[in-house]
Amino acid sequence: MAGAAISVVLTLPAIVLAQTPVAPGPLTVQVGRPGPVINRDIFGQMSEHLGQGIYNGIWVGKDSKIPNVRGIRSDVVSALRAIKVPVVRWPGGCFADNYNWRDGVGPSDKRPVTLNANWGLLEPNAFGTNEFMDFANQIGAAAYVAVNISTGSVQQASDWLEYMTVDKPTTLEKERASDGHPAPYEVKYIGMGNEMSGCGGAMSPSDYVEHLKLYASNVDSRNPDQAPASLLRQRGPHAAMRVADGTDDDYIDAVMRAWQGHQSWSWSIEGLSLHHYTWGGAAMSSPSTGFGEQQYAGLLKETMEMEGLIAQRSALMDKYDPKKSVALIVDEWGVWLKPLPGTNPLFLRQQNSLRDAIAASLNLNIFARHADRVRMTNIAQMVNVLQSMILTDNAKMVLTPTYYVYKMYVPFQDAQFIPISFQGGRYSFGNITLQKVDAIAARGKDGKIWLALTNLDPDHDVDITIDVAGAPAQAAVGQVLTAARVDAVNTFDAPPEVMPKPVITQAVDGKLVLYLPSKSVTVVFLQP
Ligand code: AHR
Repeated sequence: MAGAAISVVLTLPAIVLAQTPVAPGPLTVQVGRPGPVINRDIFGQMSEHLGQGIYNGIWVGKDSKIPNVRGIRSDVVSALRAIKVPVVRWPGGCFADNYNWRDGVGPSDKRPVTLNANWGLLEPNAFGTNEFMDFANQIGAAAYVAVNISTGSVQQASDWLEYMTVDKPTTLEKERASDGHPAPYEVKYIGMGNEMSGCGGAMSPSDYVEHLKLYASNVDSRNPDQAPASLLRQRGPHAAMRVADGTDDDYIDAVMRAWQGHQSWSWSIEGLSLHHYTWGGAAMSSPSTGFGEQQYAGLLKETMEMEGLIAQRSALMDKYDPKKSVALIVDEWGVWLKPLPGTNPLFLRQQNSLRDAIAASLNLNIFARHADRVRMTNIAQMVNVLQSMILTDNAKMVLTPTYYVYKMYVPFQDAQFIPISFQGGRYSFGNITLQKVDAIAARGKDGKIWLALTNLDPDHDVDITIDVAGAPAQAAVGQVLTAARVDAVNTFDAPPEVMPKPVITQAVDGKLVLYLPSKSVTVVFLQP
């Protein structure tokens, strides 16, 4: 599927110049109609005690030969710092539904070994609350903890939040101090259960709502910076956000109806979760390498279903919350493929190809287009599991194509969405037809207009004219991610096949035409 023009991009070492302008566009950036802020937490991550997601992926222990800071591997930290991970969801996933936080605090040699029943593993509990907070702090991310509503209790969850966040000399505060952290942590998001209609205990929506009320009224951050002492439990601007489970339409309806109808100051929620994976066909059967155009086009078609799903869920929420006070939190999403041959299937380890990077960019564009309602997402999962940023093998580490999309999209964190209008063209394979080019625009915190453009077509390059009303652009500067094949991957033992390359395009006679190679993601800012 490699087109001739691809080699032009790949062989130029430093800077890729624009091709002769042949414009199917134009794409108009409607600078006069700014939209909502694209919350930086939309670029969040998830990390679960599953396979090698934590152990070996993040945690190697203080005595490891692999360079680490307090047991957390330094290569992984430095890679994650570079993509400015805003928030991490932990400890699961289904693992959270059975997790007892008490097992993961105190001297490490006194911690119990427990059973991680969901994922068929022994859990050494070496990585617990303080290690997670240390990790989040090392990478510069906020904490999103999911509390256990399934096998836990309100008291257990409330104690956990007190242990993490209280600054008054309670017994739990003293315990945290003696565990090495006298200062209270901040917890930005609290997940009120995980998949409660499934691995969380197959609860009916009405049962869940009753549980939710108890947890949402009693489990909160006590950090004084987040919860200033006030009557009637008023919540300040930095209060922790409570994320309810919104597994399916019935859950959403029940939770939002209860939220709208509640007359009491005692409980509320600030977010509602949505989990949605892209399987590329039947669950866990589509290979992550060595696939053809049918599987490429099929997976991207499935990816685009996220747009309709979010619109539909958002409309359901609008019924009770037309002002969009409650955020839609897509706290599990990603490409979920067949486990790599030779690996434990419960480890959910898969390769990550250019196709996955393209799928990531399409999802991020969808989330940005719905930034008025979607205010956090958490791709599953950060290291070694499903659509990860990073793969490790003992001391080796490799950055995936999806990692590079996150790196290229950093300027969109907290940027202001700008609507665009353009004809994206069509890409067809067999009976699958998709828009050829997907794009978003935003004004970054740096004041620049940024564009992200994905050319889905695996065989045909595109030239697209960029039109900025009022402030014509003289050049576009940024990076392009592509490769010779849609199933190209990065491996431990060879130089990366999928890595961004610089791109600079100058306007000619006042006309700016961007060249988008086939199967590529391009992120540029416009120079006035
Ligand atoms: O991310 C893997 C699993 O998928 C999570 O544990 C669960 O919440 C979801 O079903």
